[in-house]
Amino acid sequence: MSVNSGASKESVTFTDNSTGKSFNFPLLPGTMGPKVIDTRALYGETGHFTYDPGYTSTGSCESKITFIDGDKGVLLHRGYPIDQLAEHSDHLEVCHLLLKGELPTASEKEKFEDGIRRHTMVHEQINYFYRGFRRDAHPMAVMCGVVGALSAFYHDSLDINDPQQRMIASFRLIAKMPTIAAWAYKYAIGQPFIYPRNDLSFAENFLHMMFATPCEPYNVSPVLAKAMDRILILHADHEQNASTSTVRLAGSSGANPYACIAAGIASLWGPAHGGANEAVLTMLTQIGRKDRIPEFIAKAKDKNDPFRLMGFGHRVYKNYDPRATVMQKTCHEVLDDLGVRDEPLLELAMELERIALEDPYFVERKLYPNVDFYSGIIFRAMGIPVSLFTALFAVARTVGWVSQWNEMISDPEQKIGRPRQLYTGATPRDYVPLHARG
Ligand code: CMC
Repeated sequence: MSVNSGASKESVTFTDNSTGKSFNFPLLPGTMGPKVIDTRALYGETGHFTYDPGYTSTGSCESKITFIDGDKGVLLHRGYPIDQLAEHSDHLEVCHLLLKGELPTASEKEKFEDGIRRHTMVHEQINYFYRGFRRDAHPMAVMCGVVGALSAFYHDSLDINDPQQRMIASFRLIAKMPTIAAWAYKYAIGQPFIYPRNDLSFAENFLHMMFATPCEPYNVSPVLAKAMDRILILHADHEQNASTSTVRLAGSSGANPYACIAAGIASLWGPAHGGANEAVLTMLTQIGRKDRIPEFIAKAKDKNDPFRLMGFGHRVYKNYDPRATVMQKTCHEVLDDLGVRDEPLLELAMELERIALEDPYFVERKLYPNVDFYSGIIFRAMGIPVSLFTALFAVARTVGWVSQWNEMISDPEQKIGRPRQLYTGATPRDYVPLHARG
């Protein structure tokens, strides 16, 4: 492969060694990050596909929303660094930024927040939908079902070709997701559903719906609300990760937004992705004591053992996860503010982090703590049950999903997503009748 740059656009040349033929492909520049090789004409010109399981070297779309430089530990939303947003902004402002492209002016902010507030309730019939689930259902199972079912309730926002309907669906999803997640929790513990309170902030209202009961007043702690808001910001979007790519792929066929976000929730659930926050807590509980850490580090390094150190490693970040840095700080702040001293799981987590970061296995592979390593400890300190952790991630990520989905639908280059494959199965053979099969 050679790179050609001259007066005309940059390109790369590949030579097919079997035929000696050379092919030229354009190099496309972004505003930041490495240039990409435009291989759209590859099959037509060469008769070959690319092979890239896990899309480790494949750009699937053009996007203006989020930028990550994994080597430098940089995460920008619409150009703004994540640590500045976490420090100075609030979740709904970040939602405006992601969805609409800019930080809102004061009047835009008020209008946006009002718009979200109008959609926090769910159709009353959804109440009955919950009752079909077992009480011990995992909240993510309930979320997949209820969010998918929204398309059966909101028929006036299903036309993906109408930008206004797309925006209404986006507002509904951002606004209703906390209600849906809080109700999944209430249903599991057998308490009455708590309706949204629109005089509260997004984070306050979410905590209210989770922890209030009809029998006594519930005052939302400002410390918890602040921590929740920061956690929502830190999880709001993350470029073309598995669940976002799932939303885009599902949406590329023209599927309705509620169905697409339900698909995203399903993808997020896996322990390699959003399910890691729950898995970290389960792992820390399983390790239990500091003197057992070496045993689990050894298991994580053993290729014959499927165990991995949960909350460690990232496909893109090979330096550190900037969200984890803010999350670690937030974790200490929350525990201090709540007066939680000597939290054994935090001490265990910090010791695990220290040992892993000194171990050549983790150092060589650039495996650092990711965002999920600390979020579980904060959630636990806030009194949130472990099984709800990933549902909280889904609440936060909804804005990222709908922003990326809107961007995809408005992209003139958008096509149905349809990867190809390297087939290694049987070659053509004749059908053998049942009686003749040995
Ligand atoms: N513990 C032990 N070994 C690991 C770990 C881990 N957590 N993560 C990666 N490795 C090893 C892996 O075995 C491989 O070793 P080798 O080169 O000897 O075969 C090497 O590191 C590269 O790993 P990989 O699986 O090729 O990397 P990936 O980019 O495909 O996977 C990951 C990224 C996040 C899925 C993986 O690091 C992992 O499973 N981590 C634990 C789960 C986790 O914390 N997920 C949350 C990610 S951040 C939030 C989110 O995206 O939702």
